[in-house]
Amino acid sequence: MTQSSWWRHAAIYELYVRSFADGDGDGTGDLAGVRARLPYLADLGVDAIWFSPWYPSPMSDAGYDVADYRSIDPVFGNLADADALIAEGHALGLRTIIDIVPNHCSDRHRWFQAALAAGPGSPERARFWFRPGRGPGGELPPNGWRSEFGGPAWTRTTGPDGTAGEWYLHLFAAEQPDFNWANPEVRAEFEDILRFWFDRGVDGVRIDSAALLTKDPALPEPGGPSPYTDRDDVHDIYRAWRKVADEYPGRVLIGEIWLGDAARLARYLRRDELHTVFNFPYLCCPWDAAELRAVIDRTLEFHAAASAPATWVLSNHDVDRHVSRYGRADTSFGLDRRDHSQPVDLELGTRRARAAALLTMALPGSVYVYQGDELGLWEVEDIPDERRQDPIWHRTSGADPGRDGSRVPLPWSGVEPPFGFSPPGAEPWLPQPKEWRELTVEAQSAAVPSGGPGSMLELYRRALHVRRAEFVPAAELTWLPAPDGVLAFGRGGVACVANLSAGPVELPRGEVLLASGSLAGGLLPPDTAAWLRTVSR
Ligand code: NOJ
Repeated sequence: MTQSSWWRHAAIYELYVRSFADGDGDGTGDLAGVRARLPYLADLGVDAIWFSPWYPSPMSDAGYDVADYRSIDPVFGNLADADALIAEGHALGLRTIIDIVPNHCSDRHRWFQAALAAGPGSPERARFWFRPGRGPGGELPPNGWRSEFGGPAWTRTTGPDGTAGEWYLHLFAAEQPDFNWANPEVRAEFEDILRFWFDRGVDGVRIDSAALLTKDPALPEPGGPSPYTDRDDVHDIYRAWRKVADEYPGRVLIGEIWLGDAARLARYLRRDELHTVFNFPYLCCPWDAAELRAVIDRTLEFHAAASAPATWVLSNHDVDRHVSRYGRADTSFGLDRRDHSQPVDLELGTRRARAAALLTMALPGSVYVYQGDELGLWEVEDIPDERRQDPIWHRTSGADPGRDGSRVPLPWSGVEPPFGFSPPGAEPWLPQPKEWRELTVEAQSAAVPSGGPGSMLELYRRALHVRRAEFVPAAELTWLPAPDGVLAFGRGGVACVANLSAGPVELPRGEVLLASGSLAGGLLPPDTAAWLRTVSR
């Protein structure tokens, strides 16, 4: 593996800026907070940091409503802070990946403001999807498309004199108008934005809602094939982006694509398109050996066919944290069926999350750690309604609990909120559970027993370092014979065994490098995983 294809085997930390560390005491995380904690991330053992959107934004969707793609929101800092952060990260061996949001912008973006001012039929409106309404007075939306966040996907404009005008399309919140990617100005603008950030030294981009960009211009009613998800013409965009990325060696294009169909997903990984895509079937899979094995096999098969590295992710800022998912009776996940009414066994979920960490990090390809995974944080399900911020919660009138529970600020130190996230006395933008006093970085660093499996943080640190030292990036996975309910595979000279069955199992011969829990008489207990060196060195 050359330096320039570092992303084929990287451990990438998803850093949700608002909730990582608050440097200026306003209750919201910022770049100063990140800069102060870069040594923590270097010590953890990750190779790169993916930052959630840091651009100026009214925060109607937590920064995924971008008002200016070439600047930093003052809540987070400024461009000089970003430059310093990129440079300081590089000095510590940490690469920077930023989030690019091309499907939509903020309704405060200058282009959208200009479109509103310019009126129907204008070139300014042609960069978006403006249409007259249906019905005698145009009072009905142009079609019946629904927003991904609930409610209609169209909002009607109001002129300066208060009269109702055209409607505009937004697949997400009303404050996130969709760009019209058939418009050459939109294409040119984003290629320029890519160059802007690559010139500043960023090492890659995570492309938000990457399969949704192009729309059927006929705007057909729902019911048939999706008029906007995964259309054939979206690939032209990524071929053009790849040309830009190829001008900058070592840069990676990562697609956020919620598609279950491996064959469709593989199309984004063609030689002249994206380098990697997120693997959500793995994230959504229940804690079940046969189902996980099937997802792993399918993933490896279609990535091999595309000569692209697989990616593995357990949690992110859009899904229920996996400690909670794995502690429920139904351990599967779907974006359209978040359910916070199920009982959660946090002890069981935590044990499984530890095992899942070793399973995931042993798989060939790159791996993502969502901030707080390494602390074993759970989904906070009891955020008071008046503190909730997610537009999903608001647009569904609370029927969908939304994503705030996975975005609660990190606990760093101390025994009460804000747990070192903010200076004492400041109030974090979302409330932290008082039980997190046991999960702070400080508490988990102090409690390292000699020889024992240690805290979640210690497990992640050791796993990330052992992964680097022991797993040969190019080594392929070979399944080993194992009883029902057990996943066992070798990769090069290392074996990984994860016991998802109800009883203890024997381990293959070898030196145990790391285990997610204590071994009982040399046996691997249920919901536990281990790595073994099977070839002596
Ligand atoms: C996917 C992002 O991860 C999510 O947080 C956001 O709300 C939507 N795309 C819309 O940008």
